[in-house]
Amino acid sequence: MSSTPHFRTFFYLVLASFFFNWLFLVVWPWTNLGHQAPIQDEGSTDITPWAISGAAHAGEEVYAANGCVYCHTQQVRADSSGADIIRGWGTATDLSDDKKQVTRRSYPRDYIWQHEVFLGNSRNGADLSNVAQRFPDAATLYRYLYDPYILNPHSSMPAYRFLFVRQKISGQRSVDALDLAGDDAPPAGYEVVPTAEAKSLVAYLLSLQKGYHLPDEKGPVPATPSNKS
Ligand code: HEC
Repeated sequence: MSSTPHFRTFFYLVLASFFFNWLFLVVWPWTNLGHQAPIQDEGSTDITPWAISGAAHAGEEVYAANGCVYCHTQQVRADSSGADIIRGWGTATDLSDDKKQVTRRSYPRDYIWQHEVFLGNSRNGADLSNVAQRFPDAATLYRYLYDPYILNPHSSMPAYRFLFVRQKISGQRSVDALDLAGDDAPPAGYEVVPTAEAKSLVAYLLSLQKGYHLPDEKGPVPATPSNKS
């Protein structure tokens, strides 16, 4: 007997298994979660989540190119599936109205403005979903990227010095020149300034914060989560 019919059955079974995987892992999530709209309060022009700037979108590329996603996640899991909430990764101050604390997991709607979503699956460093609330100013983020040992002498995070340039000060010091001390300080007459890449990366990091409520929020949140990672 020829083996062709068996092969054909096998081939159709493989095809069917790929098809059902594609249907349930790609098409079904895309139709259910892929078209979420921002929320607009009645009588207000404000929307949540807030749209992010062009510079922040450019920063997504820099984030991808420098492998940040290999060590950092951007997804706060529900308190039933891990300690993210207890670690304070889901905690942010509500910037929209009464400055109350928001403590919650991430929802698909949080990501609607991002062109690239960096969920990540490895956590050598902290989850960065709310990093802009812990590091609200560009100057600290620049210094941290230039030298992660400033804040943690045993840091395993690589220094991203190639995102900065050292240049001779001509006339006045640049406004975004880094305040560096000790071994990091440039020689007299020189300054260290962020490149366009560093600026967009930091604009992106500053867009990462979830200080708003979403109607998707479900379940109880602990009253006083710790702020430690
Ligand atoms: C090899 C792993 C690794 C890579 C790659 C990495 N980091 Fe980190 N990062 C860490 C670790 C570990 C920490 C925790 C604090 C420390 O040890 O300095 C950290 C901390 C941070 C923090 C402070 C977070 C907080 O809330 O405490 C920021 C911001 C940060 N990283 C941004 C970045 C960015 C942006 C990139 C990519 C350009 C990047 N990291 C790449 C390991 C990494």
